[in-house]
Amino acid sequence: MKLFENHNLKPYNTFGMEVYAGQFLQLEKPDEVSVAIEEYLRQQPYYILGGGSNTLFTRDFDGVIAHPVFEGIEKEEETADRIVLRVAAGEPWENLIQYCIKHELYGIENLTAIPGLVGSAPVQNIGAYGVEVKDTVLKVEGFAIASGKPFVLSNAECQFGYRNSVFKQQLKNDCIITYVWFQLSKRKQFTLSYQGLTKALQERELPLSLRNVSDCVRKIRDSKLPDPKIVGNGGSFFKNPVVPIEQYQELLVQYPDLVAYDAIDGGKKLSAGQLIEKAGWKGKRLGNAGTWKNQALVLVNYGGATPKEVLEVAKNIIQDVNKMFDITLEMEINRI
Ligand code: EPU
Repeated sequence: MKLFENHNLKPYNTFGMEVYAGQFLQLEKPDEVSVAIEEYLRQQPYYILGGGSNTLFTRDFDGVIAHPVFEGIEKEEETADRIVLRVAAGEPWENLIQYCIKHELYGIENLTAIPGLVGSAPVQNIGAYGVEVKDTVLKVEGFAIASGKPFVLSNAECQFGYRNSVFKQQLKNDCIITYVWFQLSKRKQFTLSYQGLTKALQERELPLSLRNVSDCVRKIRDSKLPDPKIVGNGGSFFKNPVVPIEQYQELLVQYPDLVAYDAIDGGKKLSAGQLIEKAGWKGKRLGNAGTWKNQALVLVNYGGATPKEVLEVAKNIIQDVNKMFDITLEMEINRI
């Protein structure tokens, strides 16, 4: 492992916040994790940082940031129709997508171009275009920080929900994920429930293949979402809110074009992006922070934004959406 003192976190968060960590511990091998817990993490405040694509640092961090970078994709099992992969937490998510395309493994192609590392994927149950990572995660390996003991959690034990899991609840900031096991299909199968994706495939008259679906997803993302390498951002800043049917029906009278989906546990899931747009915030800027012109749900750093400026935009959006729709938006991003 490598330890850095007073380390600038700007390259480690896609929002591009310039904040400093007292100590920054780069974990280069999974077997360094238990030593790191004993020697560094127990003594001071700590935070486990993956690719930093879902984290908003709100101030300098007076403690140690542990950053796993160990990579590797191992095939553990293969049958006629499925393959089990054990993937190290520090592997970039997009490498796994490319591996699956190359080896013709189906299941996560709709999750193309999501920034971040494999170890973070189960934490917020990353999802896009009708697929969530929970659909392919078999189990998750890691270490509990309080006890220092290794754990293996089955899919059910991960308690996955919409942008949620046990790692954001009971185990919040109390574990380091070392490996994620995925079960992928060798049989050709696609999830085409997201209309924009089927439309894009049809318009381009492309046959259904892993490569074509993945390319279409990338094109859709490019058209809606800012590239964090160019414009700092952390993806969707808020969760899509779920409201009772009655409230949805009342809102519909005033806003007949409201986008809504049936929520799993009842109620209607609305589009936070649309609510923010209707509240007048799409593409709006306050100082150096604001929302993205093509997707109001994404808050952006237009250059040199401070955490205070980003939080000010978020606060104003929450207030205005609440005033207009009586809905309180909940942040999806981790604030540290
Ligand atoms: N919409 C607007 N105005 C906007 C943004 C969206 O009217 O400014 C409308 C769109 O026209 C569309 C609907 O809202 O009818 C949904 O928009 P979109 O398909 O872009 O998806 P989303 O619900 O805003 C979610 C995820 C994204 C994921 C997309 C695609 C959350 C919080 N976000 O966004 O995930 O890529 O669906 O499946 O669930 C992320 O989590 O960081 C993320 C980018």
